[in-house]
Amino acid sequence: MEEASQALAQRICASARQAIAQRNRFSLVLSGGSSPHMLFQLLTTPSFVGQLDWSHIHLFWGDERCVAPDHRHSNFLMAKERLLNHITIPATNIHRMPGEMVPEDGANRYQADMSDFFNKGEVKFDFILLGLGSDGHTASLFPGTAGLEEMEKDVIAVPPPLVMKPQVERLTLSLPAINRAREICLLSGLPGKEAVFEKIKNGQGQQFPAAMIKGADWYVA
Ligand code: 6PG
Repeated sequence: MEEASQALAQRICASARQAIAQRNRFSLVLSGGSSPHMLFQLLTTPSFVGQLDWSHIHLFWGDERCVAPDHRHSNFLMAKERLLNHITIPATNIHRMPGEMVPEDGANRYQADMSDFFNKGEVKFDFILLGLGSDGHTASLFPGTAGLEEMEKDVIAVPPPLVMKPQVERLTLSLPAINRAREICLLSGLPGKEAVFEKIKNGQGQQFPAAMIKGADWYVA
């Protein structure tokens, strides 16, 4: 994971610099799971922290499990422990998904938060980081589920996945919201996901949500 995480950390720094120079802020969407652990830790090390102007960086999440923010399954908690606790960033720059709310209410709240951030215009993130599940899911968009059909909303509540753990409801960005981003990177440690990765790479995995993300750059280890 080290090489892929290093390369991605460098890319995030370069993208942040460019976005801040052009638009005075950088919106970065984080993923959950275990693949970004090393990346998040790297971003807190002296060589990277000095390159990142956190006062102009806004953090969002691509998906969240519907649990409290201090629950061990919370994607926010994972990022807090590995990244947020070790950097200086204004609290107002942290836009976590409210996993503790009734899921539909949480999705509506997040839609409103994103809409405010984008001055009521189109939700268009600078950079979205995603992961890959062994069933081909990405964010909390699972194969064969109704969430994949969402074309209007940018964020939706989805039922607990049938196979993937933890089996709790989730909030997730929709496909259109993800595909609208300026840059999308998919980071994955491959063990257990080689088959799905190969199929997607060979163009035979159209049924997998990760394959529905257009123009993503893959960082695999
Ligand atoms: C989550 C995710 C999810 C994750 C993949 C990969 O909340 O579970 O955001 O989409 O990125 O399941 O997980 P790993 O990085 O643990 O392999």
